[in-house]
Amino acid sequence: APAYENIKVDVVGAKKNVALIQLNRPKALNALCGPLFVELGQAVRDFDADDSVAAIVITGNEKAFAAGADIKEMQNNTYSGNHKKGFLKDWEDISNCGKPIIAAVNGFALGGGCELAMLCDIIYAGEKAKFGQPEINIGTIPGAGGTQRLPRYVGKSKAMEIVLTGNFIDAAEAERMGLVSRVFPVDKLLEETIKLAERIGTHSPLIVKMAKAAVNQAYETTLKSGLLFEKSYFYGTFATADRQEGMSAFVEKRPPNFKNE
Ligand code: CAA
Repeated sequence: APAYENIKVDVVGAKKNVALIQLNRPKALNALCGPLFVELGQAVRDFDADDSVAAIVITGNEKAFAAGADIKEMQNNTYSGNHKKGFLKDWEDISNCGKPIIAAVNGFALGGGCELAMLCDIIYAGEKAKFGQPEINIGTIPGAGGTQRLPRYVGKSKAMEIVLTGNFIDAAEAERMGLVSRVFPVDKLLEETIKLAERIGTHSPLIVKMAKAAVNQAYETTLKSGLLFEKSYFYGTFATADRQEGMSAFVEKRPPNFKNE
């Protein structure tokens, strides 16, 4: 693996098929500086291309998943400069990953940290996690999807409250709102998240990719065209060897042996 400075990468799980990316700027509460995002994008692209990897887990440490974009780095940014360099544009690269990405959030997931978690496909949280979009406190607004993705997760009233107050919400509340799918004790979070990734890894990677793309359409389009997309992918699974293997294995009462084909 390339030598990274702002993240750590590993491959974990009993079958060594779960990629683990740990954000690693603990002194800055994993503030998401430009170089960190370049490395994160590189790592996600590499794992997406690696056939031995079934799913990717992104985590931080017990104190912070990530406390947002790096305020010190952007403090002197200008309007024209942001436009010229497309500030934060590369964050969307993460959503081009075909494989499932799971966020394991302990501690603060604030501003860009909350937005990074929402760029992932599933969010698991530790009991002490705190989510928020506190940009309003520092005279700006979310800039990496917060105003758009948060309402899709939690609805307008809750999203408005979070974005307009800058208040933090705890893990239990985040779960009630549907931002987080499950909450675990702090020290169990990572192993439970890896278990989830391993469970996903028992399926055909090809079909997992199609299922992810189909669910994502629900956030991109009208119901009618989303259903058309789903139908075309569903029919498409019938052109794959793995669909045939999955159904044959069921009928023959044996475990399937998927080939990613
Ligand atoms: N950027 C840069 N540095 C940060 C940071 C950030 N977002 N968050 C924390 N840090 C740094 C602090 O400056 C501090 O560094 P020094 O020791 O060098 O002073 C170190 O991390 C530890 O932080 P604190 O001393 O503040 O820790 P705390 O436990 O007292 O407070 C906190 C924790 C409540 C999370 C507080 O750090 C905080 O409010 N952070 C900023 C949160 C925020 O506003 N995030 C939104 C950023 S804007 C954004 O993300 C835009 C976007 O949409 C993409």
